[in-house]
Amino acid sequence: MTLANTITQTTLEGGRKILRMTGALDERSHSTSGVLIPIVRLSHEHLPKILEHLLSLSVHDRYLRFGYTATNEHIQRYVSGLNFDRDEIYGIFNRNLAIVAMAHLALIKQVGHESSSEFGVSVMPYARGRGYGARLFDRAVMHARNEKVHQMYIHALSENAPMIRIARKAGATIERDGAETEAFLRLPNRNIDSRVSELVADQFAKTNYSIKEDAKRFWNFLAKVKEIREGVRDARHRSGQ
Ligand SMILES: CC(C)(COP(=O)(O)OP(=O)(O)OC[C@H]1O[C@@H](n2cnc3c(N)ncnc32)[C@H](O)[C@@H]1OP(=O)(O)O)[C@@H](O)C(=O)NCCC(=O)NCCS
Repeated sequence: MTLANTITQTTLEGGRKILRMTGALDERSHSTSGVLIPIVRLSHEHLPKILEHLLSLSVHDRYLRFGYTATNEHIQRYVSGLNFDRDEIYGIFNRNLAIVAMAHLALIKQVGHESSSEFGVSVMPYARGRGYGARLFDRAVMHARNEKVHQMYIHALSENAPMIRIARKAGATIERDGAETEAFLRLPNRNIDSRVSELVADQFAKTNYSIKEDAKRFWNFLAKVKEIREGVRDARHRSGQ
């Protein structure tokens, strides 16, 4: 995503928010086209949420995501082996701060060899078709470029039409070998635009996340107040009987 795109999308979303507040915008579609999606860089503190997201995937989705039918133990081992210093793990959160979609960009840097990367992604079934998979892919491409990585590899099962479509649309070379498909994407050099765009995307995601945290705290506080008031009312009622 270019900086110009980022700014256009932010402006568009700002306009939409105003229309939503006035009730002039009647939105029925869940499409995220033209909307800036907050994609958070995940860290150790998010491990329980990452585990929760992956364990919630169905048997078939686990098969599509990992290339084999990952058991709970496989997933636990995968999550505890995540390397946040080397790789990038991204998450899209809902209002309750649960992970709706996540991606893993593994960076492979070897002295004397061109750096490479591998991309894996999963989106909760109810949130599919909104563009989250493609946005996470774009975010990973942006980071890989900025890390001077020139190649991205995606392993997908040949039945996985959305994943293959995401890779194909980005310009990847697709090699199908029976039930398995491999996609290789050459990445352009980083430039000022890719670097500034990443800074903007990160800042936006951090701000959005902390607003959601504050909102969650506020609603929890209100729920507690309501609980106490109901308790006091019940006690008064009982003592009046
Ligand atoms: C693959 C996956 C991540 C896609 O996520 P998503 O958020 O639904 O994807 P998007 O909404 O960004 O859609 C990507 C593209 O695929 C297309 N698409 C979606 N479902 C499709 C389908 N069943 N057949 C063909 N194309 C499809 C979309 O229209 C979109 O193309 P467009 O941009 O031209 O419109 C999601 O299906 C998933 O989590 N699957 C289980 C795990 C997995 O397969 N991971 C990938 C292997 S690493």
